[in-house]
Amino acid sequence: MAHKFGRVAVTGAGGMLGVDMCKALEPHAEQVLAWDRTALDVTDLEAVLTMFRIHQPEAVVHSAAYTKVDQAEAEPDLAFRVNAIGARNVALAAEAAGAKMVYVSTDYVFPGTSEKPLNEYQDTSPINVYGESKRGGEWLASGLVSRLFIVRTSWLYGDHGPNFVKTMLKLAEKKEPIRVVGDQIGCPTYTVDLARTIVRLLETEKYGTYHVSNSGACSWYEFAERIFDLAGLSVDLSAVTSEQFKRPAPRPAYSVLDHMALRVNGFPPMRDWETALKEYLRHNQLLRQESRPIEC
Ligand SMILES: NC(=O)c1ccc[n+]([C@@H]2O[C@H](COP(=O)([O-])OP(=O)(O)OC[C@H]3O[C@@H](n4cnc5c(N)ncnc54)[C@H](OP(=O)(O)O)[C@@H]3O)[C@@H](O)[C@H]2O)c1
Repeated sequence: MAHKFGRVAVTGAGGMLGVDMCKALEPHAEQVLAWDRTALDVTDLEAVLTMFRIHQPEAVVHSAAYTKVDQAEAEPDLAFRVNAIGARNVALAAEAAGAKMVYVSTDYVFPGTSEKPLNEYQDTSPINVYGESKRGGEWLASGLVSRLFIVRTSWLYGDHGPNFVKTMLKLAEKKEPIRVVGDQIGCPTYTVDLARTIVRLLETEKYGTYHVSNSGACSWYEFAERIFDLAGLSVDLSAVTSEQFKRPAPRPAYSVLDHMALRVNGFPPMRDWETALKEYLRHNQLLRQESRPIEC
């Protein structure tokens, strides 16, 4: 089978999305350059330029990021160095190599004041340092690389690395009451679905900003409820408010992403978050055994 791509690079290749991104690209690329943090520190401009000069990728998925949302409040310089300056470095190198670039961004660029799904052209106004630093990356990449996809996603979980689903399942083992925030609404997204869609985007020249999350919406509490239900676990779960569950970084109250750019550019719709969650749990042997009809 002919490959769709030649060499494609992935930054942050050891991260939750990075691992699934490399897997999604493998069948379609002659070579996937999986650059984890040890292979390439994206804050080092010379190192980034050199990597691109040597390997000449035709595309790069820039998924390396500083993702500690709460910690970012205490170390903004580091968050901006990785998320904004890192994106600038990758954009400069991609442009010099003539490569397409995907910059993975976040629903946290929005303030959370909307009451309906947000499309790609609505005003951003982040309310925490992490969101500001990711928007900084969007701005810098936009000014420096001509062939750019900005892909905003939300509430990621995947097979590799810590995430909300794994945290909930671990907490359930302790058999203690679990309190989860019920007044933040967004959409959980399976990294496998995100990675597949990024591959589809990369096949085209339809550059621009895209919202790529699973479809639908829920609160963190509803997400937890569905996780326990699908895993067949009985848990003492209750909803709390963001006010009751104070964190160092404020989160947007509402950050559901509308997939307008996918729709108007003719890409297939994203499947709903509950179907994706079910597949994730099944894939990890965590799905409750569904009762089978008794054969006579
Ligand atoms: N997780 C979410 O819910 C979510 C939601 C919306 C958007 N996003 C975005 O999606 C992308 C992937 O996120 P993820 O959840 O897969 O995050 P992740 O698991 O934390 O992966 C990020 C990777 O980047 C690496 N990294 C950090 N600093 C680096 C540097 N200076 N140079 C090179 N690599 C560096 C990290 O390495 P170390 O582990 O060694 O630090 C990690 O392997 C990010 O752009 C993130 O902003 C995530």
